[in-house]
Amino acid sequence: MSARIVVLISGRGRNLQALIDACASGLIDGQVVAVISNHAEAGGLARARAAGIPALALSHRDFASREAFDAALIERIDPYQPNIVALAGFMRILTPAFVGHYLGRMVNIHPSLLPKYPGLHTHQRALEAGDRKHGATVHFVTAELDGGPAIIQGQFTVDAQDTADTLADRVMQTIELHIYPQALAWLAAGQVRLDGARAAFANGHPAPLIWDAGQEAPPCAA
Ligand code: GAR
Repeated sequence: MSARIVVLISGRGRNLQALIDACASGLIDGQVVAVISNHAEAGGLARARAAGIPALALSHRDFASREAFDAALIERIDPYQPNIVALAGFMRILTPAFVGHYLGRMVNIHPSLLPKYPGLHTHQRALEAGDRKHGATVHFVTAELDGGPAIIQGQFTVDAQDTADTLADRVMQTIELHIYPQALAWLAAGQVRLDGARAAFANGHPAPLIWDAGQEAPPCAA
């Protein structure tokens, strides 16, 4: 069964584009059925429209509370009957009610090797800590911010010349655009699922799967 994927964004939508492309190429057995942004001017909305995907904006500023916004978001998402809700640069802290509603079918991509650096300014923080490795993580979303069980982490070696800007670019281009489509392909195919407090691969591979950029492709968990 082809997965129905709703993508939530706040910004440029480069990860969104990678997911759209991976559905079109057949890597993901699924389709992006709607894209929702909390910012009307998010560049990712134009990407969705260009691909013929319903794209809508719902501003959190129009709601008195986090709870009210999240409840309205659920009302917009659920008519699309998603099997998967993918957060792709959706810069909102989610309420427990929202997280509980999509538990096990909602995933996020975060630009650090979690549990290092949840929240913002991940590249700068990795530099300041003198980390040798940096990368990104795809994880199931649970109530803890950027804290849910990881499915895959992509990493590379930090160079002496790296700045926060070069790290941001390297993480996006060499890691995020590869591991998010791969993780959604597994999820859509039922090859990984949330099992209590951990991600579980159907073939028993330990999670998270660690992928070194420069290897040909993220290894297949099937
Ligand atoms: C990505 O780097 C993503 O990992 C990050 O926002 C960027 C969105 O870029 N997400 C977070 O920091 C979530 N905590 P994009 O809109 O071009 O995909």
